[in-house]
Amino acid sequence: MTAVDAIGGHARERTGGPAPALPAPRGPVTALLFRRLAGAPDGRALHLDVTGADLGDADFQLALFACYELHYRGFAGVDERWEWDPALLAARAVLERHLEELLAREVPMPPLEGARDVRRVLTALAADDRGPSVSAFLAQRAGREQFGEFVVHRSIYHLKEADPHTWAIPRLAGGPKAALVEIQADEYGGGRTERMHSELFRATMRGLGLDDSYGAYLGRVPGITLAISNAMSLFGLHRRLRGALAGHLAALEMTSSLPNRRYAQGLRRLGGDAGTARFYDEHVQADAVHEQIAAHDLCAALAADEPALAADIVFGAACALELERLWAGYVLARWERGDTSLCRLP
Ligand SMILES: [Fe+2]
Ligand SMILES: [Fe+2]
Repeated sequence: MTAVDAIGGHARERTGGPAPALPAPRGPVTALLFRRLAGAPDGRALHLDVTGADLGDADFQLALFACYELHYRGFAGVDERWEWDPALLAARAVLERHLEELLAREVPMPPLEGARDVRRVLTALAADDRGPSVSAFLAQRAGREQFGEFVVHRSIYHLKEADPHTWAIPRLAGGPKAALVEIQADEYGGGRTERMHSELFRATMRGLGLDDSYGAYLGRVPGITLAISNAMSLFGLHRRLRGALAGHLAALEMTSSLPNRRYAQGLRRLGGDAGTARFYDEHVQADAVHEQIAAHDLCAALAADEPALAADIVFGAACALELERLWAGYVLARWERGDTSLCRLP
């Protein structure tokens, strides 16, 4: 049995257009939003009420994800004018305010002694490995089915890997801009399609018998998986949050090498071939370098240029790490009791 059989999906042929279909709604908020997106923008207000939703609320997170996705690939059958429709943007602002409030409340912030302290705090945050380790589980214990689930969760981000952080390029200047471009150039394969990290990830998906088309599993992942991507898009799409976006990227890069080594190890233990493991092998090497560029040339330099952004840089990093911890707790709790970490098909 392939991983994809085990999680109830089925590989479908790539049939042209890069835009995925809208997934099934996950509650009243997405039901209303998707109903409106099925028609043309018509000037009517759109009221999305997410009062009381927590970070893992799938209805809330999928609604925000769908609003953001209009700025990436869009959705098949959804009018592209929705991207800048004032009613949609007003509704999105309500969701974003809620996400920002949740992150401010739930994410612990370490003490920071001014802009010159940013590098030290980032290093301390990245070194804090308390909390459940999905990478250790995958290296040593996971079955092929669980590895497939892990890849499905990650596909939500990795199939557009680097895109959310690219929003910051025009918002930075000088050294921090050059540092970000250097990292992003690697993420995009130095201009070679087959070396783009999103393409390497598609090879991983195919190697596991999974559907590698963009957005194929949007309807199968829990709210906390979507929250990880939504935080990146929130930071990416608001210039005022450029510090948080830089810190977010640094946290990813600084905590990447070791887990990716473990992912590759787990994949080989389960019989994965070189092409399937290449995405992870590549990150062991690349992120050992990116880590230095992101922490020093991007974040420390940005804090020196714009000291007012120092706390935001740390906040972005703390958000990345806390969401990852929450996600790991969610996934491992389900695996430990022999359950799937994905959502069952309706
Ligand atoms: Fe990458
Ligand atoms: Fe990287």
